[in-house]
Amino acid sequence: MALLWVFGAVMVCFYQVTSETVSFIKSPMSQTTVSGRSAGLHCEVVGFPLPEVQWWYVEEEEPEETITQLFDGARMDRVQIHTTYNTHAASTIRILNVTLNDSGTYECRASNDPERNALRKTLKVKWIRSQANIFVFEQPNILTEPKEANITTEVLSCNFTEPQTPIKGHHWTRNGNVIEETRSTSTVGFTQYKVDKTDIKFGGAFSCVFIAATEFNESIKLSVVPHVVAPKHNEHVTENDKAVLMCESSTYPPIDKWRWSFTDDSKNKKDITEDEKYIIKIEPNKTTLYINNPASNMDSGSYTCHGSNDMGEFSDDITLRVRSRLAALWPFLGIVVEVIVLVTIIFIFEKRRKPEDLGDGSAPLKNESAANHKDKNVRQRNCN
Ligand SMILES: *[C@@H]1O[C@H](CO)[C@@H](O)[C@H](O)[C@H]1NC(C)=O
Ligand SMILES: *[C@@H]1O[C@H](CO)[C@@H](O)[C@H](O)[C@H]1NC(C)=O
Ligand SMILES: *[C@@H]1O[C@H](CO)[C@@H](O)[C@H](O)[C@H]1NC(C)=O
Ligand SMILES: *[C@@H]1O[C@H](CO)[C@@H](O)[C@H](O)[C@H]1NC(C)=O
Ligand SMILES: *[C@@H]1O[C@H](CO)[C@@H](O)[C@H](O)[C@H]1NC(C)=O
Ligand SMILES: *[C@@H]1O[C@H](CO)[C@@H](O)[C@H](O)[C@H]1NC(C)=O
Repeated sequence: MALLWVFGAVMVCFYQVTSETVSFIKSPMSQTTVSGRSAGLHCEVVGFPLPEVQWWYVEEEEPEETITQLFDGARMDRVQIHTTYNTHAASTIRILNVTLNDSGTYECRASNDPERNALRKTLKVKWIRSQANIFVFEQPNILTEPKEANITTEVLSCNFTEPQTPIKGHHWTRNGNVIEETRSTSTVGFTQYKVDKTDIKFGGAFSCVFIAATEFNESIKLSVVPHVVAPKHNEHVTENDKAVLMCESSTYPPIDKWRWSFTDDSKNKKDITEDEKYIIKIEPNKTTLYINNPASNMDSGSYTCHGSNDMGEFSDDITLRVRSRLAALWPFLGIVVEVIVLVTIIFIFEKRRKPEDLGDGSAPLKNESAANHKDKNVRQRNCN
């Protein structure tokens, strides 16, 4: 019996040594946002055994505060909670499409007390807590000029008419990327951006961003005729292999229709439609044409990709050369031909030499004929 008591005491000591109290290694950080955007808080805790993490919302309604636990899918599915338990516990809560009602205090709680989820709550159960606030602002009234921009537009402008908090600066973004040279610390609620028309694909979604209590922005869409470009203007393929031709565009508005046409070497033009020979793959800013079993005589030529949006159409050309299968054999054929020619020459040479060799024995004949010739001359002279 005494032994059991000792064993029990040792177990308690062992548990106390190995169990490690829970502590935060990352507390959630307060943040400001604008209604319609999303907000997120993150916290990380360590402890042994691994602690459980929960998120709670604190409503400070007079006379007393009410506190409610948040679960994944809460608030009409706008709440997302993602927690990982590895060497430590890390949890992120995201609230999508926030409204002013989402403003408030959020609490990250953690505990590894084995009693923490017991139905009969004991006072001993310890949760550690860390709070952060989310402040949601109304989307302010930022007037833009023009509302919709196009190729004729020279300047984009934004007028932040009634800022509720002091303005500390502003800048512009294009397709979400900051245009660095527009960064300013001006406290004025007005900014202009001169459209850079030297950039062939100057369209896009432009936003003026005013830095105040948070970043307030408004956007102007600049629509232009698409700019379509083939990264490779020349392609080579061997007959019966697969040819792959590609064109891209990064303009605004995005391409809503892609098509391909083909002009052969005799200037006959045709539109390409999908069949067993052609496969056309279309992505918003890219199109790829696959040609199965191309033939050197029929499929060599110029391929044109056409991209169009509301503003018009633009195209680019790719020249495809299809080598015949024999082409690959040409170096080998060349050697074969060379060998044949050489062998023939040697053979003919040998054949020519043979009569000469025989002729050596009849050399006196030559002299004879020469002698006869002389005789003739003599004879002729004699005749004269
Ligand atoms: C965001 O919320 C507003 C108002 O609550 C609603 O009109 C809008 O459709 C929502 N947007 C998205 C993307 O859910
Ligand atoms: C915000 O909460 C109030 C009262 O709880 C409610 O009447 C209102 O419709 C809510 N607004 C939004 C945008 O959810
Ligand atoms: C371009 O914008 C101007 C003014 O905003 C408008 O008058 C014109 O019709 C637009 N042109 C095209 C092609 O959309
Ligand atoms: C901005 O808008 C306000 C209100 O419409 C107007 O009074 C003011 O002149 C505008 N500012 C600029 C620089 O256009
Ligand atoms: C403000 O910027 C964000 C992020 O770039 C964007 O998602 C949002 O649509 C913009 N809001 C307006 C009103 O332009
Ligand atoms: C096309 O879109 C993809 C993803 O949407 C992007 O990674 C790529 O850079 C874009 N290409 C061009 C040419 O804009």
